[in-house]
Amino acid sequence: MEDHISNKAKAPEYQLSPAMDSSTLERRRSSNTDNNLTREKKKLKRSEVLAKKKVVDELIKAARAENNHLASFPSFNHFHGNGLSVCLKSGRGNKLPSPVKNYIQSLLKLNMEGPYGSEWLEEEKVKRKEMVAPEARYILVHEVANSNTNETITVLTADETPTSWVEDSGPMVGFVQYRFILEEELPVLYVYELQLEPSVQGKGLGKFLMQLIELMAQKNRMDAVILTVQKANLLAMDFYISKLRYVVSSTSPSKMGIEKSYEILCKTFSHEAKTILEDS
Ligand SMILES: CC(C)(COP(=O)(O)OP(=O)(O)OC[C@H]1O[C@@H](n2cnc3c(N)ncnc32)[C@H](O)[C@@H]1OP(=O)(O)O)[C@@H](O)C(=O)NCCC(=O)NCCS
Repeated sequence: MEDHISNKAKAPEYQLSPAMDSSTLERRRSSNTDNNLTREKKKLKRSEVLAKKKVVDELIKAARAENNHLASFPSFNHFHGNGLSVCLKSGRGNKLPSPVKNYIQSLLKLNMEGPYGSEWLEEEKVKRKEMVAPEARYILVHEVANSNTNETITVLTADETPTSWVEDSGPMVGFVQYRFILEEELPVLYVYELQLEPSVQGKGLGKFLMQLIELMAQKNRMDAVILTVQKANLLAMDFYISKLRYVVSSTSPSKMGIEKSYEILCKTFSHEAKTILEDS
């Protein structure tokens, strides 16, 4: 009895009934094979998707685990030019000393209250939370107190990567806040903030920092750099679009016919990212 049931359950289609001719049987067989193929393809696709997701998650995990992203780019640890001499240090949102947090808040208010207008008070609260998140990473820009470049020495960091270090760093003059995150299922470096004091703007430092950010993104195998700019911040829009060749992302509200005060800009490093973030 059990055998009978199991056979029936296994292959009822293969038992030729008097009414079933061979072409019907052939069609059924081929439709059965098609179903199996579709199922196999789906299974394969699903396993490919899962494998890809695993790779992407690992990339983000590895980038976040890195202690000092600046260590790989010793020649980018200083900027000298146009009468300006600065050195860069790395930081983490949950390890910022109080004076640095206060500095960041003041500079944000100084630079962004205007472009945000009436939205500023709400935005300031959001930015205060974002500032201290563990996944928030920083490039802290310090003036070099003693701008004699001969004072620069090379040291080994904990991971034994040689990095330049200026012993005598002066007050902060700006910062970059960035994160490694998933965007449209792609691993990306998202620039949350790039803020320079007015006294150091227009001297090539912003461009230098964005070059460094792009190198860091590529070193960590991210597919793109993404950032958000207030539409009212015309100088920043011009800086990113005309000078650095960023484009308005297809994920930006304006590309979806939604009216918002900001645009999402991106620069992609892979064909897939270009298709997803620029073309779709
Ligand atoms: C936007 C900002 C990051 C640009 O950095 P920066 O150091 O001032 O810019 P750079 O000196 O590197 O300039 C790069 C290019 O942009 C141009 N540029 C930069 N600021 C400019 C300005 N205020 N007016 C005209 N051109 C400007 C420069 O002429 C330069 O062009 P070039 O490469 O053809 O010589 C900086 O001005 C800033 O912090 N602004 C306030 C905060 C802000 O708006 N941040 C962006 C929020 S998303």
